[in-house]
Amino acid sequence: MHTASVYYWTYSEMCLFKHFTYSHRPSPQHHLQPTLIMSTSIYSFYTQLFPPDPLYTDKDVPNLQGKVYMVTGSNTGIGYEIVKVLYAKGARVYMACRTESKAKAAIAALGSIRTSTPGEVRYLHLNLSDLSSVKATVEEFSRQESKLDVLWNNAGIGGQAGTITTQGHDDYMQIMCLGPFLLTQLLLPNLRRAAASSPRGSVRVTFTGSRLMEADAPPNGILMSELDAPGRPFSRLYSQAKAGNFFLGALMARQLQSDGIIALTINPGNLRTQIYDTIPSWVLSMIGFLLYDVKYGCYPNLWAGLSTDITMEDTGRYVIPWGRWSIKVRADILNALKSEKEGGSGVAQQFWDWCEKETKEWR
Ligand SMILES: NC(=O)c1ccc[n+]([C@@H]2O[C@H](COP(=O)([O-])OP(=O)(O)OC[C@H]3O[C@@H](n4cnc5c(N)ncnc54)[C@H](OP(=O)(O)O)[C@@H]3O)[C@@H](O)[C@H]2O)c1
Repeated sequence: MHTASVYYWTYSEMCLFKHFTYSHRPSPQHHLQPTLIMSTSIYSFYTQLFPPDPLYTDKDVPNLQGKVYMVTGSNTGIGYEIVKVLYAKGARVYMACRTESKAKAAIAALGSIRTSTPGEVRYLHLNLSDLSSVKATVEEFSRQESKLDVLWNNAGIGGQAGTITTQGHDDYMQIMCLGPFLLTQLLLPNLRRAAASSPRGSVRVTFTGSRLMEADAPPNGILMSELDAPGRPFSRLYSQAKAGNFFLGALMARQLQSDGIIALTINPGNLRTQIYDTIPSWVLSMIGFLLYDVKYGCYPNLWAGLSTDITMEDTGRYVIPWGRWSIKVRADILNALKSEKEGGSGVAQQFWDWCEKETKEWR
């Protein structure tokens, strides 16, 4: 990885000191006005970096026998931590992953979990880097299940240079936005079937955000003119994709409101996972104090997916570590959720329309 990129990532992570870094940005187009950062608040940054103890953990999760869940990118990292809890509570869980051998090894390792209510975990092939394969994933799932109670769109990449996918998109945007958008749209019949026989607001879809959305994303979260443009540094690719996740959560909430299905976006926190594997060890040693045990990453996911404290009134909201509502989302990103008529920038809707257009062929 380019040394400048490593500095950039590190400094981005240490965003409390962000205002010191503007002069080190790779090009003028990547300058971010300090006012954007400050339109969230120092406290909001601080509390996401150093969250209070979790109030909802695996101990609060009820018996989940009879429930059907899907967690993408769950052979490792945060996703695997979610799967472990769901399995221990008796659920049937689909581990939607791209590498069968890794998923099977992860499933085998679940045998060591001591529980009186073991569930069942099944591997489901999902490669978000290839949009043409997503429909087959959903067809395979639907052969086995008619309903889906919660979908956690968790899979992601980070810390590496961007590449272009078969469909011609940057892989950050495809793996974390276009793929999850398509997967969720194709799974709507299953989610709606679950919602038809469940308490309102108990069927849910989550998207995975990141604090780097507020630290690094350009004005309005996404520059539509920049989508798929080559040569952007990975931190820019990552933060725009994470802003995309925030928009998808908020707009899918509007789409699914009448079905009684909740959609949320989650910042899982800074966790020690393989996502940092490409970052040199000396950098990791510098930011290590900001990274928590991966177990913590499942708490905001469990709260968002399962807590009965969350109701339809909350749909579309942003969850921060370790399972509570965001204090203050960056103002321009929040404003992007409003149309120009309503005084906003309308970028979220433009992004949604772009996702519709780019995935239409694969529905
Ligand atoms: N860790 C953090 O500090 C942190 C902070 C903020 C947000 N997040 C977000 O949390 C989510 C989980 O991250 P993590 O830290 O648990 O990362 P991780 O340990 O690297 O796990 C990522 C998972 O996504 C899968 N994946 C990657 N590309 C895929 C593709 N094309 N198709 C299907 N699956 C794919 C990976 O599969 P393979 O094992 O086959 O590669 C892996 O299972 C990501 O969305 C990440 O952006 C993480």
